[in-house]
Amino acid sequence: MSLFQKLLRRKSVQDLQNGGADDAEGPKLHKVLTARDVFNHGVAAIIGTGIFVLTGVAAHDHAGPGIILSFLLAGFACAFVSFAYAELASMIPVSGSAYTYTYATLGEIFAWLIGWDLLLEYAVGASAVAVGWSAYLQNVMKALGLHLPQFLSHAPESVPWQAVLIAAGTITVGVIGLFRSRAALTGRAGARTYLTGLASAALAGFGLVKAWEVATHLTSVDLPAILIVLFINFWLVKGVTHTAKMTAVFVAIKLAVILFFIGVGIWHIDTTNYHPFLPFGWHGVFTGAAIVFFAYIGFDAVTTLAEECKDPQKDVPKGVIGSLIVCTILYILVAAIMTGAMSYLLLGGSEIAAPMARVLDHLGYWWASPFVSIGAIAGITSVLIVLLFGQSRIMMRMAKDGLISPIFGKIHEKYRTPVWSIGIWGVLVALTAGLLPISELAELTNIGTLAAFVLVCVGVMILRVKEPDRPRKFKCPDFPLVKPAGNLAVNCLTKVFGLKPETEARLRSFVASFAWMLIPILGAGMSMVFMFSLPAITWIRFAIWMVLGLVIYMFYGRVHSKLNKTQEK
Ligand code: ALA
Repeated sequence: MSLFQKLLRRKSVQDLQNGGADDAEGPKLHKVLTARDVFNHGVAAIIGTGIFVLTGVAAHDHAGPGIILSFLLAGFACAFVSFAYAELASMIPVSGSAYTYTYATLGEIFAWLIGWDLLLEYAVGASAVAVGWSAYLQNVMKALGLHLPQFLSHAPESVPWQAVLIAAGTITVGVIGLFRSRAALTGRAGARTYLTGLASAALAGFGLVKAWEVATHLTSVDLPAILIVLFINFWLVKGVTHTAKMTAVFVAIKLAVILFFIGVGIWHIDTTNYHPFLPFGWHGVFTGAAIVFFAYIGFDAVTTLAEECKDPQKDVPKGVIGSLIVCTILYILVAAIMTGAMSYLLLGGSEIAAPMARVLDHLGYWWASPFVSIGAIAGITSVLIVLLFGQSRIMMRMAKDGLISPIFGKIHEKYRTPVWSIGIWGVLVALTAGLLPISELAELTNIGTLAAFVLVCVGVMILRVKEPDRPRKFKCPDFPLVKPAGNLAVNCLTKVFGLKPETEARLRSFVASFAWMLIPILGAGMSMVFMFSLPAITWIRFAIWMVLGLVIYMFYGRVHSKLNKTQEK
């Protein structure tokens, strides 16, 4: 096999549908989740910091009442992408989400890059959400007269990144090395394993010393953000049924709060607040959409549950599309009430982090603000659960494919969860949440997610062309009216120009393909438009991240890939 062929080798969809030969050994994940759990998981992932925090900023600074259109626009983009996710999930019901789909469509190197990129959505996204959680908690504490010491309440002004990276890298490599050479402890090992064990222990020790050095030089950390990430990871280790129950409670609380807001606010809409409707023009609407896009992130996370569902090929598409529709309707209603009940100009200022509470205060329901804050904390907590969960599952899948260390794929005998994956990423996410500000984290999350969306839409088109007859329990629908309008045009052309039957048949087949392709094309196109509206610095960080990923793939993934072994035989 040439290097080029190796980089583009693909997993067969048939293998993935059979569960994959690589999954034959070791304990399996529990298959316990139903369609309702999947829907809950979707709502749990979607409604959070975006609606509870960012809506006010976006309306005040960018879109005015036009924020309603921003939500509609971002909702449409996500709806197109959700159809693409649903089609792929119905064909490939395993837990790796966009990573697995890309492995089956574009090939290994793209799959690796998308897996690496999804770290930005899940791990960096979780860090951003944890910072939002911490801000809300501190608001509630303040209302109760409790104050955290300054040095424990927010990210530091500057961080010695070089030292942090050295510490994190050496500890991670050291721990993985220790895990791989653990046979040395049982006396069954050869000299090489003992040496690896010793070197790993030394590396991990060096990392710990470096970490201590960093810790003693920091001026402040966001302690609540760190603690909530560690706490949720502890729960995730204990198992998916456990987590599903906790998630369902949080979802119920946040939905109750949002419905309460809608039920109360809808009677106070004053249409004069909608004038001018687009104070910042269409440009403001698009910028607003790129910001509130964050509010929709998470619907795709449902696909990481596939291996734990009773009937993934049906439940996952239902969960992805159902949760997105419900959340889009709620978002549009909330945005319409927020900007209709008071002027968008009043949604800014010091309480910008809590726009819903501000509206309720303005309407005289001052007693409802704490209720909203508790709903927000519950809502943001459930987003964190899903993102951290999805992160560990994607890493697990990559480890099973041999693209990263097998430690990330190891499933605990008793809890049946990928404990190492949860633990290692839990610590890394906790660190970034404690050390970085929310804005930088959120922008990186958006670009990573949008890049994955583009590849998923492209993947659907590739599989439709390459494997048109493979059964799909869900198919991207035709774009409304395109087929009848196209066929009408072909009829007219045939009548006017007397087309040959073969030309007419070719035109009809083109119309049919265009009708279904329009949905993934629009999904990919709108995702790209949003990507290009992000600042240059975010693109630079994104590029650095992807180049780093490429280097790791060339030195590790490419060599250890399971496909290397099976396809070279
Ligand atoms: N959609 C999620 C949120 O808004 C990421 O928090």
